[in-house]
Amino acid sequence: MRDEKLLNIAYKAIEKSKEKVSKDYYTLKYHLMPPVGFINDPNGFINIKGEYHLFYQFNPLYPEDKKAYWGHVKSTDLVNWQQLPIALCPSEWYETHGCYSGSAVNYKGIFTLMYTGNVKDSSGNRETYQCIAQSNDGVNFIKYENNPVIYNQPEGYTRHFRDPKVWKYGDMWYMVIGTQTVKEQGTALLYNSKDLFDWKLIGEVAGANTDKLSFLGYMWECPNLLNIDGKDVLIFCPQGVEKQGDLYNNRHQCGYLMGNLDYETGKLDYGDFVELDRGFEFYAPQITEDNKGRKLLIGWMGLPDEEESPTVKNGWLHCLTIVRELSIKNHRIIQNPVEEMKLLRKNRIEYNNIEIKSDNLKLDKINGDSYELICDFSWDIVSKFGIKFRCNKDCSEETVLYYDVEKEKLVLDRDKSGLSLKGIRKCKLKNHGNLKLHIFMDTSSIEAFVNDGEEVFTARIYPDKDSSGVTFFSEDGNVKLDIQYWEL
Ligand code: FRU
Repeated sequence: MRDEKLLNIAYKAIEKSKEKVSKDYYTLKYHLMPPVGFINDPNGFINIKGEYHLFYQFNPLYPEDKKAYWGHVKSTDLVNWQQLPIALCPSEWYETHGCYSGSAVNYKGIFTLMYTGNVKDSSGNRETYQCIAQSNDGVNFIKYENNPVIYNQPEGYTRHFRDPKVWKYGDMWYMVIGTQTVKEQGTALLYNSKDLFDWKLIGEVAGANTDKLSFLGYMWECPNLLNIDGKDVLIFCPQGVEKQGDLYNNRHQCGYLMGNLDYETGKLDYGDFVELDRGFEFYAPQITEDNKGRKLLIGWMGLPDEEESPTVKNGWLHCLTIVRELSIKNHRIIQNPVEEMKLLRKNRIEYNNIEIKSDNLKLDKINGDSYELICDFSWDIVSKFGIKFRCNKDCSEETVLYYDVEKEKLVLDRDKSGLSLKGIRKCKLKNHGNLKLHIFMDTSSIEAFVNDGEEVFTARIYPDKDSSGVTFFSEDGNVKLDIQYWEL
């Protein structure tokens, strides 16, 4: 009954604003975005019964109200998604302030969600409950009658205790969950369960309360713990990490630790913390394994506490990334667009052996606001080269991705991208005399995969709709270029 009331409120809000949202130029053409309102973390990503299902943190009433529902989409190919009815609304005593993030598993053939029920009282005190909801038809989810399955946090931690990610290993269910110690250091805890309902704490996987990770903030959100190509990887979002040169420049971070997980003690014997994305907006990724054994990631192209966007006045905010496939090379996570992205390709254009001669070069038909572009650059001596996207006539507007050969840094510059947030992000990249950039441009986003997924830069940009030019440039030397382009 209370579900129905909340659903009505949400569907009314969708009805009221959906036209305004759809008329907004910045509406994305092939990225998942909310029908109206606010989207944040992807949740419950799963390949089940021949379909991919994905849920997302959804505030249909944004900006008036911020209670999280779970929106729901499904797909057979990871690129064409169908909206389904809202899966969860914050109707019960243990989730009055939101059905927060969580994950999905196939429990004996039953589609099962595990998520955090968030409760806040009028003075801001928080309660946190881990809850289960199940579905027989993959559309309607019923909350477990004995929810919550975990009441608040274990001793030594605060009520910032959320975002359960569940998986099966051997005969047992495991769960990793983000939290904060009472000394306000971020950490992730491992639990196990024989039956998915009764959970036992094993221990800390890793934490900012250790010498090695003391710089890693006051809270870890949205952990994923999985094995990729024989390595155990903890991917999580530490909050409160201080900027160090080119690293950790966003308001909140997302990265990983890699090693071997001891399932008995819960400990990961990790190496360095590495950022997963080098761009501006990337957070709370959710990872699943599909029936082909692929490790698939989808992330939020947004950050907590970053709401400056021209789309807010049109009743919506944020979107998700495209789906990426993960692998490991040289002890690093490699991310590449899933193969299925090719289904979106239209009108291929190719140029080979183009020479950029210390100038600005435009190529016929290489332009637009929704495309895929693969550029293979090679050079001997040059100081800098790159691509200016979404340029207007006098180049007062442009988004620049370039390689600084002398400093061996790849740079994304959105200082002149148009409306909203500005800035520069860089990452170290060795000069090998060649560089591959694989770009996905949408009306208000850019994702750049570097050297077949060694690095990725993800960002929202808000250029004018007439800013559709693409210019290639080099300084102090020549660069050879092969190009493949598709409209999307
Ligand atoms: C991360 C996060 C999660 C939480 C959710 C609430 O963006 O803060 O920790 O579950 O968003 O919407």
